[in-house]
Amino acid sequence: MPKPKILVIDDDEPIRTQMKWALIQDYDLFLAKDGVEAVQIMKKELPALVTLDLGLPPTPEDTAEGIRVLEQLLDIDPSTKVIVVTGNPDKSAALKAISLGAHDFFTKPIDLPELKAILKRASYVHSLEKECQNLQKQVHQQFSDMVGSSGRMQEVFSTIKKVSTTDVPVLITGESGTGKELVARAIHSTGARCARAFVPINCGAIPENLLESELFGHEKGSFTGAHAQRKGKIELAAGGTLFLDEIGEMPLQLQVKLLRFLQDFKIERVGGRETFELDVRVIAATNKDLKKLIEEGRFREDLYYRLAVVTLDVPALRERSSDTLLLARFFLQKFSTNAQKKLSPRAIEAINAYNWPGNVRELENKIRRAVTLAEEHIITPFDLGLGTDADASAEGGQDAQGLNLKKAVEDLEVRLIQAAILKNDRNISKAAEDLGLSRPTLYSLLKKYAITI
Ligand SMILES: Nc1ncnc2c1ncn2[C@@H]1O[C@H](COP(=O)(O)OP(=O)(O)OP(=O)(O)O)[C@@H](O)[C@H]1O
Ligand SMILES: [Mg+2]
Repeated sequence: MPKPKILVIDDDEPIRTQMKWALIQDYDLFLAKDGVEAVQIMKKELPALVTLDLGLPPTPEDTAEGIRVLEQLLDIDPSTKVIVVTGNPDKSAALKAISLGAHDFFTKPIDLPELKAILKRASYVHSLEKECQNLQKQVHQQFSDMVGSSGRMQEVFSTIKKVSTTDVPVLITGESGTGKELVARAIHSTGARCARAFVPINCGAIPENLLESELFGHEKGSFTGAHAQRKGKIELAAGGTLFLDEIGEMPLQLQVKLLRFLQDFKIERVGGRETFELDVRVIAATNKDLKKLIEEGRFREDLYYRLAVVTLDVPALRERSSDTLLLARFFLQKFSTNAQKKLSPRAIEAINAYNWPGNVRELENKIRRAVTLAEEHIITPFDLGLGTDADASAEGGQDAQGLNLKKAVEDLEVRLIQAAILKNDRNISKAAEDLGLSRPTLYSLLKKYAITI
């Protein structure tokens, strides 16, 4: 650890010398006799600490010059801890200095143990602040597209940071839409491989007979339709990261081949004779319970232990409800093109009350939809598709994708229209009024839903 830098500013030579001998052991020391020298050193060295005699020339009798220098120093680096020194037992000047940003003060004659204690404390605070700033910077830079202040997400962030400096395989688990792919990308982009490729492959979306050649590549003529040699995803990820999404869907026969690859990092293209070694980091994700799949004989236990050297569970959104509004606002900002739309108080209530079975993806979709639909500047629960309890529960029971939501809203509309028509003895004008609609709008809805009166 380098010694902290300290700048001692005093016009009195014997005091400078006294301070020098008192501090030189613990600090990297600089001395200045006036404001001009002090500012020069400050700019060059950016010391953590400054002791500033307020009675400086050309006005050693009052504090005008000292205060001016204080302001200059803090302009150069507001994080520097300036301890002002006054020769005057009247504390008003010191208090003024503190109100301008000085960290602490003490009065002459100098009591060395007291001075040392003050400086030690100030130096500690300075280093804590720096550490905090660095951490904040890292969090913002590394996870700028990932939001979460809940304890559960902070744990996820800290695991991401830990595993990103290693090459161990990571298995990311969590419900659909929780952000597993985003986590995988964060591990890749904060690690040493960030400049190389991140290659995702969805093991559940590719037909079984094609998956092998997608992963391992193939040689020309190795099967009907293989007109040219093609590199597989593993090869494309060389030097970078291979992301095996929905690993639970991988057919057993391919699991064996993947396991072989993970044992020696060698591949052979389909129909090829040459074996070659590749440097690839592997991250896998699943929303399935792999342990259960193992019991059922649908997933190889040996492959599981290869992939799950570290497991990272991304919590469901309902388990980190303090993040929900934060995420909602993040998406609002992301999707608002012009002036940012705002959530109405009832929309905030509705967002907090809903249990988000589709997790972050559902929240993102709902906000995207609301930003498009909302005619006003303010987003209402209805724009979010969270208009009533009926809406919310209709959607909650299913897998809450766009189509179900639309159907739930339509069902509700039909029910409300029918009820209004019955209540108003089939009088369309009155029913429209009850529903808060114009007559033509109600007519068009009757037509749309084929409701007969
Ligand atoms: N913490 C977060 N901050 C910001 N956006 C997020 C966060 N978590 C997830 N998202 C967004 O939510 C969407 C779903 O995330 P992602 O695709 O990573 O989820 P997933 O767990 O892989 O889902 P699935 O299991 O359905 O594949 C993405 O658009 C992603 O950008
Ligand atoms: Mg995914």
